[in-house]
Amino acid sequence: MASAKINLLGLSGSLRKDSFNTKLLHNAMEIARSLGAETKIFDLSQIPLYNQDIETKGFPDSVQELRKKIFSSNGLLVSSPEYNFSFTGVLKNAIDWTSRPPENPFSGKPVAIMGASPSGFGAVRSQLHLRQALMAVNAHAINYPQIHISNADTAFDEKEKLKDSKNLQQLEKLVAVLLETISKN
Ligand SMILES: Cc1cc2nc3c(=O)[nH]c(=O)nc-3n(C[C@H](O)[C@H](O)[C@H](O)COP(=O)(O)O)c2cc1C
Repeated sequence: MASAKINLLGLSGSLRKDSFNTKLLHNAMEIARSLGAETKIFDLSQIPLYNQDIETKGFPDSVQELRKKIFSSNGLLVSSPEYNFSFTGVLKNAIDWTSRPPENPFSGKPVAIMGASPSGFGAVRSQLHLRQALMAVNAHAINYPQIHISNADTAFDEKEKLKDSKNLQQLEKLVAVLLETISKN
């Protein structure tokens, strides 16, 4: 009997049309597909700002949909810019909404983290904060390899592929570790 395909959900912390982080996410998704996984990206621009008064009345449709997609995924790929040394409010807002009771869809879910920045730091500081928030929601963030794409404004070619072979190899490793972690789950 053929085994079910691994199904991965991608989240980008940037809503920018030409986002380096969304490009990075697409690179990771393409690697995952080449390894047999199914991939989907959820557009976080649909998620309203968290407000407990709204939550009390019921989850908005977009939040409900994202919660379902996280639940039904086997793992997540998350790419976020660094904003003021942290990950973006867009991503934090989505994590806050989707982690609310009664069920937390992140619990035990393997998550691969990556980030890109035009600076030399490659979103390294944002990822530490993201790891902390993922710990709060009991997700299983993959520790290594860590993907910090610095000088992101020159890191992608005209087809939006990562140019540097070392960056690509590291990304391939991260996706492979994510798939391996999911298979062992
Ligand atoms: C509000 C704001 C804060 C930022 N803070 C940082 C920062 O702390 N570190 C950094 O490397 N880049 C910072 N940047 C620059 C972003 O890395 C840059 O805009 C990047 O292109 C955003 O990612 P994206 O291309 O995926 O949208 C900041 C940008 C904005 C808009």
